Amino acid sequence: MAIQLNINGKRHSVDVPPNMPLLWVLRDTLGMTGTKFGCGMSLCGACTVHIDGEATRSCVTPVSAAAGKKITTIEGLSADRSHPVQRAWIEVDVPQCGYCQSGQIMTAASLLAKNPKPSDPEIDEAMKGNICRCGTYQRIREAVHRAAELHAAPAKSAELGGANGAEEAADRQPVNAGGAA
Ligand code: FES
Ligand code: FES
Repeated sequence: MAIQLNINGKRHSVDVPPNMPLLWVLRDTLGMTGTKFGCGMSLCGACTVHIDGEATRSCVTPVSAAAGKKITTIEGLSADRSHPVQRAWIEVDVPQCGYCQSGQIMTAASLLAKNPKPSDPEIDEAMKGNICRCGTYQRIREAVHRAAELHAAPAKSAELGGANGAEEAADRQPVNAGGAA
């Protein structure tokens, strides 16, 4: 039976087993490869998306559990890289290989949507489940602070909660999740 999904503001009907991980559906069924596969066991954060605004591990989320909910992936965070987290990531030049970064960005965006001015310990706590094998943690922390500043700037008021923007492929962006699809 087809499952109805709302991803980045668009409706998708997918004919897949209900227990298939959402990550599989995003990447293999829908070709949205900005969200990465790292461990498949909820251990690394590479697969992080938002479901109803909550940072969620899509590798361990059955697609049926996401049906009827608002799913946001890195492709939908903004239409034009204008999300404060994306702008901060570019400015601070956070990524190294890039593989973990879509997950990092999605977790950071979720944090800032709830806590617009997090402290270092709050950032570390929120981000601790997102592993970066390149060790970009210092720049991630700096970029989260910068994103908070950008969000607070009156002339630059892009939403932090994840826009229903166009599905601009993360693989085309300088702050992309990088690496192999
Ligand atoms: S791939 Fe989902 S947490 Fe690692
Ligand atoms: S930038 Fe390489 S794993 Fe994080």
